[in-house]
Amino acid sequence: MSVHKKKEVKRVTTHVLQAMKSKGEKIAMLTAYDYSMARILDEAGIDILLVGDSASNVMAGHETTLPITLDQMIYHAASVVRAVKRSLVVVDLPFGTYQSDPMKALNSTIRIMKEAGAHAVKMEGGEEISKSIKKVLTAGVPVMGHLGLTPQSIYKFGTYTVRAKKKDEAEKLISDALHLEKLGCFAIVLEKIPADLTKKVSEALTIPTIGIGGGKHADGQVLVTHDLLGITKDFQPRFLRRYLELFEEIKGAVGQYINDVKSLEFPNDTEQY
Ligand code: KIV
Repeated sequence: MSVHKKKEVKRVTTHVLQAMKSKGEKIAMLTAYDYSMARILDEAGIDILLVGDSASNVMAGHETTLPITLDQMIYHAASVVRAVKRSLVVVDLPFGTYQSDPMKALNSTIRIMKEAGAHAVKMEGGEEISKSIKKVLTAGVPVMGHLGLTPQSIYKFGTYTVRAKKKDEAEKLISDALHLEKLGCFAIVLEKIPADLTKKVSEALTIPTIGIGGGKHADGQVLVTHDLLGITKDFQPRFLRRYLELFEEIKGAVGQYINDVKSLEFPNDTEQY
């Protein structure tokens, strides 16, 4: 009798990411909000899938990330988790579900872990959210930090420009990064900060940094998948590299379909029963 062994897929864990940093191997991370896209990205070999609260902009059309709810994040995260065989799935704790109260942070995290089956959570902020991070970590849930441009605080800063260009802001960011590492975060996203500062932080930390608009010295990179694929059209920051122009491609294909339907070209004889 022959025994058919399924080919084992080696899952990406926080330990794997740590080993990648030690070996100098870069980490590739992208956002995902739904099953179909997550399946493609996971099969392509992405290391981390972030169920980002950017779903608020990309999926729901809101101007900021603030309106998305915990229930909505859980819906997106559960869809992504169902698709994934290899990647580590990290889920953003949405605005208002963790900042002020460690117990609230823990309860929000427990819902994400239980109802969506996620592998880790991400929170925006430094020393000021220490208690929430600590509480979640003591429950055994890995936490990813997020410093620099933190979109949930957009109304505090007023713009999406580059952060920590001034000396005092840069010093605070370095101190926050060291603090997050000391608390036990497994990685930190550094968003839209000068490349030199990313280099300094990445060299000072033993845990991996993941940059978005932070230059080449981060231990990994993250982009919003819809930006990389050119599905979002009007967002064109300097750091974004578009690998496809899908907005125009999809529009063209749909235009062709409309023409075919109206001209009775679709369906043809072989496309019917
Ligand atoms: O929500 C998100 O997509 C993010 C990334 C931009 C890092 O936080």
